[in-house]
Amino acid sequence: MSSTPEIHVRDLYKSFGDNEVLRGIDLEVGQGEVVCVIGPSGSGKSTLLRCVNLLEEPTKGQVLVGGTEVTHPDVDIDAVRRRIGMVFQQFNLFPHLSVTENLTLPQRRVLRRGKEEAARIAAENLRRVGLSEKADAYPASLSGGQQQRVAIARALAMGPEVMLFDEPTSALDPELVGDVLAVMRMLADEGMTMMVVTHEMTFAREVADRVVFMDGGVIVEDGTPAQVIGNPSHERTRHFLSRLLDPAMADVEETEKGP
Ligand SMILES: Nc1ncnc2c1ncn2[C@@H]1O[C@H](COP(=O)(O)OP(=O)(O)O)[C@@H](O)[C@H]1O
Ligand SMILES: [Mg+2]
Repeated sequence: MSSTPEIHVRDLYKSFGDNEVLRGIDLEVGQGEVVCVIGPSGSGKSTLLRCVNLLEEPTKGQVLVGGTEVTHPDVDIDAVRRRIGMVFQQFNLFPHLSVTENLTLPQRRVLRRGKEEAARIAAENLRRVGLSEKADAYPASLSGGQQQRVAIARALAMGPEVMLFDEPTSALDPELVGDVLAVMRMLADEGMTMMVVTHEMTFAREVADRVVFMDGGVIVEDGTPAQVIGNPSHERTRHFLSRLLDPAMADVEETEKGP
């Protein structure tokens, strides 16, 4: 990685009260790179993403996006957030607005785009996620997978430099996961810089340039998917992966190891 990383996290700490959730995170994501973040529940994955786009204020350390220190006290938070798209497990669409209106509203409010331009960009991005025919539909009439693709299109319509995904498929029925992952794969192929918190190991193996394993607020391993998923060097990573692949077996191992 020769040029400035698109996302640069330096010695990042975050506490909630006396609960130290991030304990010295160092991470670089290069331009066009896809980094999947894996790890057990409570390890700090969401907090890390939320610190990158300043939904949480770090206790200590720095975050730079495109070379700008977003954790600087004088930073324009709204300008930072415009550069970073975020997709959550819950899609957070406005139920009383049509799909198109869900995409045009933030463009008009935040970017001050005119009606026609916003509508044109909404249509472009609905096409990218394969949902042109749902432009006038309301969220409640869509499947979870379609709603999540609308949420991705809404983020893309803002023209972000970076996309953050926090378990985007975890709330979906299994048969709807593939369509959302396909859209994310397309974005990766187009060269979008992405950080993706996910339990989808096939996606991580096939799409990620790097996989980061977090546990207890630290990065335990950071490497290629072949290294981190295929041949982990830490016991904690191996244990996490074995539980993910076969939860029942991991419980047996735990019991056998017991006191
Ligand atoms: N807003 C918050 N207030 C207090 N504690 C929080 C908050 N957000 C997260 N935490 C705590 O931080 C820890 C890590 O949470 P999180 O980043 O959501 O982990 P993960 O996404 O890996 O499951 C958990 O113990 C959680 O309870
Ligand atoms: Mg989380």
